[in-house]
Amino acid sequence: MPVLKSLLDTSSQAYASNRAAQLAALDQLDEQLAKAVAGGGERYAQRHRERGKLPVRERLELLLDPDSPFLELSALAAWGTEFTVGASVLTGIGVVSGVECVVIGHDPTVRGGAMNPFSLRKTLRALEIARTNRLPVINLVESGGADLPTQADLFVPAGRIFHELTELSSLAIPTVALVFGNSTAGGAYVPGMCDYAVLVDRRAKVFLGGPPLVKMATGEESDDESLGGAEMHSRVSGLSDYFAADERDAIRLGRAIMARTNWRKLGPAPAPDPEPPRYDPDEILGLVPPDPKVPFDPREVLARTVDGSDFDEYKPLYGTSLVTGWASVHGYPVGVLANHRGVLFSEEAKKATEFILLANQTDTPLVFLQNTTGYMVGKDYEQGGIVKDGAKMINAVTNSAVPHLTINMASSFGAGNYGMSGRAFDPRLMFAWPGAKLAVMGAAQLAGVMSIVGRASATAQGRPFDEDADRARTAAIEAQIEAESHAFFVTARLYDDGIVDPRDTRTVLGMSLSAVHSQRVAGRRGFGVFRM
Ligand code: COA
Repeated sequence: MPVLKSLLDTSSQAYASNRAAQLAALDQLDEQLAKAVAGGGERYAQRHRERGKLPVRERLELLLDPDSPFLELSALAAWGTEFTVGASVLTGIGVVSGVECVVIGHDPTVRGGAMNPFSLRKTLRALEIARTNRLPVINLVESGGADLPTQADLFVPAGRIFHELTELSSLAIPTVALVFGNSTAGGAYVPGMCDYAVLVDRRAKVFLGGPPLVKMATGEESDDESLGGAEMHSRVSGLSDYFAADERDAIRLGRAIMARTNWRKLGPAPAPDPEPPRYDPDEILGLVPPDPKVPFDPREVLARTVDGSDFDEYKPLYGTSLVTGWASVHGYPVGVLANHRGVLFSEEAKKATEFILLANQTDTPLVFLQNTTGYMVGKDYEQGGIVKDGAKMINAVTNSAVPHLTINMASSFGAGNYGMSGRAFDPRLMFAWPGAKLAVMGAAQLAGVMSIVGRASATAQGRPFDEDADRARTAAIEAQIEAESHAFFVTARLYDDGIVDPRDTRTVLGMSLSAVHSQRVAGRRGFGVFRM
């Protein structure tokens, strides 16, 4: 295979300033990640420990195979909202007894682990990832159930958690609940719906209603243990399959359950001993300009990401704003679509369409590296059928059945987001680099469009146009859209699965590819390859 040759000048001024900007963005990311790790803060963490309980991240650490990596998802969920960064729940993909699993762990230090609308979206996304990639699920349960003041936004969609857990079981994807504490009302259905339930002695509380509610409803006097303790559920109701002496015992039992699932991945194994890239992934920081309007060559990223820097480019002389080609990452074959100079023209759209069809013919997963300002506008392009060509690409992306992995490297604007397998097109996993922007269009363009529309409207109605008010409005809109395009804002709303360090791109892709290979990897069959 042809080996990519890097032209990156690591001694240039641009390299140094790009790198400084990326490191600054990574510092900001670290600051926010620290908030997610801190959860409810020192006071609640201390109270939790004084009760003899482990923090959720320590539960996770004990659960995972020693020294195995964990791909945390949606770590900045709820960023910039009234809720705690991370949304009171920890989710991700990790290895338990040799089995890649989705782990969903409540953080009881944040409002008793209660679930707010962002925790719900994060939990549902984790369950969707489990279903589409056929990954077993382990729940680390300790939650006050619904965040009661926000119940209006929660109650109806939260039913989907029950639905997803049940559906996973029907798909023969194992589900496990390790119950460390409160699991009442809706929460009681988590151990209720899972294939396996482990309850911790004198800690687990699994009931539809606690003693006060029972007293109110029926007048009956009761206590936590007789209503929902581990001993009662293990000896009497049978809801508990395993009685755990303490938290560590519950985690041991969870690992033992996973070891006995007789789990086999359905996708093909990766090629053994993949070569590392020939260029240092650390240099990615120096090649990405902070201004999304300044293009960079994605081959430089690929030279630092794919096995042996081997990249077999498809149609290199045609539709050159989009780079397409074949490579492998950690031994998994992939097809890559990467934006180069931002705009997608008809040629790029047709090239992408053919390439996606080819990947489906050969059951090859696709990696989309986004840096796009969308499809080209203008008379010549409209007359040339850009709408039809963009539609071809979106059709191919929609109906492609091989796993898609998407990374927003720098920008994802307009329908380019759709054509490059954005969130609405069900990539199996989707990440962004910390400086990446995402919106319907750039902030300045959007504010400018609003100004032109306002001016035209005033003219049509014979009204005078207030230039000062327009300037102020334009500036305000631009600032708003700029803030809403920010990677933290986007990830907070679960429009991707997390922000990753650009230097970790190869690792993140490798872990993601390994995870998607739990499921069968098969392309769409039917029409074959349309030559555009
Ligand atoms: N919704 C919103 N906030 C909640 C909450 C919920 N379901 N459960 C707890 N919180 C808040 C508390 O108000 C408290 O806030 P504060 O510290 O600002 O006063 C904080 O979370 C910690 O709660 P606390 O009761 O001190 O923690 P705990 O560890 O002693 O007990 C629970 C945790 C979950 C057992 C207990 O809070 C509880 O029973 N909550 C209600 C459970 C419930 O009935 N949920 C409805 C399910 S549909």
